[in-house]
Amino acid sequence: MNDQLTVLSHPLVGHIMTELRDQNTSPHQFRALVRKLSMLLCYEATRDLPTVEKQVITPVAPAQGVMVDQSKLVFLPILRAGLGMLDGALELVPDASVGHLGMYRDEETLTPVHYYTKLPPQFEGRGAVILDPMLATGGSAVDAVEKAASYGPAWIKFLCILSAPQGIEKLSKAYPDVKIYTAAVDQCLNDHGYIVPGLGDAGDRIFGTV
Ligand code: PRP
Ligand code: URA
Repeated sequence: MNDQLTVLSHPLVGHIMTELRDQNTSPHQFRALVRKLSMLLCYEATRDLPTVEKQVITPVAPAQGVMVDQSKLVFLPILRAGLGMLDGALELVPDASVGHLGMYRDEETLTPVHYYTKLPPQFEGRGAVILDPMLATGGSAVDAVEKAASYGPAWIKFLCILSAPQGIEKLSKAYPDVKIYTAAVDQCLNDHGYIVPGLGDAGDRIFGTV
């Protein structure tokens, strides 16, 4: 469809997505499912990280291994729903830095409203991984990439649980170098900008504010 886009294709991802979509899934279960999918997305998005060789001594013999310089990664959750993805990402890369991008989507205009930004000052030579479960119109994603790009990272990737074709198109047209990782792509948006069939409001379901 689009060589910027990686869609996780795996029976277990399908299983988790189905549980996640179910309106009867509790916030507690929903958070656990988001965490699992975030780990899998992060695993996929970090495939090309550079490694340096390191020798260790096992109880049996010396072994040649590799290490990743985790400080070269910055996770950028978009508040508030992106926070739900952070634990899963940090489980995999615990020594990454974390910056916060505070924005919400105005319900009438569907455009993002910015209310908070706190990013590490030093991005030189580091990669930025933006976390947000939902890529709907793409407005929040484009603004987040714009903000991250202004700090001069070496590269930017966007990780989301669920995406709509409109959001993928908007983000990939605005930023052709930004790779997008998603667990599923749905059909369309409804008149209120919600992904259909979707999973509802991710932030509300993560934090139990439905
Ligand atoms: C949701 C979601 C994205 C945005 C996606 O956040 O987490 O940030 O909407 O929509 P878009 O692609 O059309 O911009 P929301 O505004 O509901 O804020 P919240 O995370 O604080 O609940
Ligand atoms: N934000 C959400 O949380 N859900 C959608 O379907 C669209 C935007």
